[in-house]
Amino acid sequence: MSMRDKVKDHYGLIAKLVSESKQPSGCCCGDSCCSVTGATRIYDLENLPSLPEQAVNASLGCANPLVFAKLQEGEVVLDLGSGGGIDVLMASQHVGPTGKVYGLDMTDEMLILANDNKERMGVHNVEFLKGYIENIPLPDASVDVVISNCVINLSENKEAVMSEIYRVLKPGGRLAIADIVATREVPAALQDMVALWVSCFAGALRIDEFERCLARVGFKDISIVPEFIYGKEVLGNPGGQLTGEEWEALDGAYAGALVKASK
Ligand SMILES: C[S@@+](CC[C@H](N)C(=O)[O-])C[C@H]1O[C@@H](n2cnc3c(N)ncnc32)[C@H](O)[C@@H]1O
Repeated sequence: MSMRDKVKDHYGLIAKLVSESKQPSGCCCGDSCCSVTGATRIYDLENLPSLPEQAVNASLGCANPLVFAKLQEGEVVLDLGSGGGIDVLMASQHVGPTGKVYGLDMTDEMLILANDNKERMGVHNVEFLKGYIENIPLPDASVDVVISNCVINLSENKEAVMSEIYRVLKPGGRLAIADIVATREVPAALQDMVALWVSCFAGALRIDEFERCLARVGFKDISIVPEFIYGKEVLGNPGGQLTGEEWEALDGAYAGALVKASK
């Protein structure tokens, strides 16, 4: 099974559990989950009650990209890997009825959950699309702002993702992404561990690699700021597979970061 299919299975299962209300609010699945902070620690508490409970419970992000996306009324926004739709639904309130927010995800169960959440919230300026972030199903220069929350690290072809973001952005458009980055080189054996990959760590780019990748496809004004440095206890020891030495090697090796750039 490819890594992409493993990622799909992982997030499909989470979506099902949330849809069936089998998970407690704020954190979906403990150590093996992408969410290393939980919705109540990422978002302003005052915004959460306006959202469907199932959207909040499905939150798997690592920070709030809307804080620095500075969305304006009437803008067209695209959320890559929109999951249960929490950032899409919040963004829909910022851009208003004259704006539009697309959520793109490859996992059927997540799309079902997101569409249910859209209906629960009764918003009309939102559309969820099925597809891959490496091959975005939108025309060139059609989007003002691309947001994403803890997704790009899951892709095995990050350069394709960056160039697709660049392609769909209008000239002068911007990206505002929350993602996990590596603060230093991580041993290759650890990067290959499926549990670390699907939980958003093993596939994380180093900050300098991320910057270079964005610059290569044409982005300017690039800024990557690590916000939360993760200790080894946050990563857990999936399946007890890591030796004590390997686990130590991961202490502080990853951070939740805010990534900005413009076209
Ligand atoms: C960690 S979750 C984040 C969900 C959401 N952004 C949030 O903050 O709650 C990752 C999401 O990205 C989707 N995803 C992962 N890789 C993808 C890809 N290559 N193309 C499209 N969607 C992808 C998964 O299906 C999942 O819904």
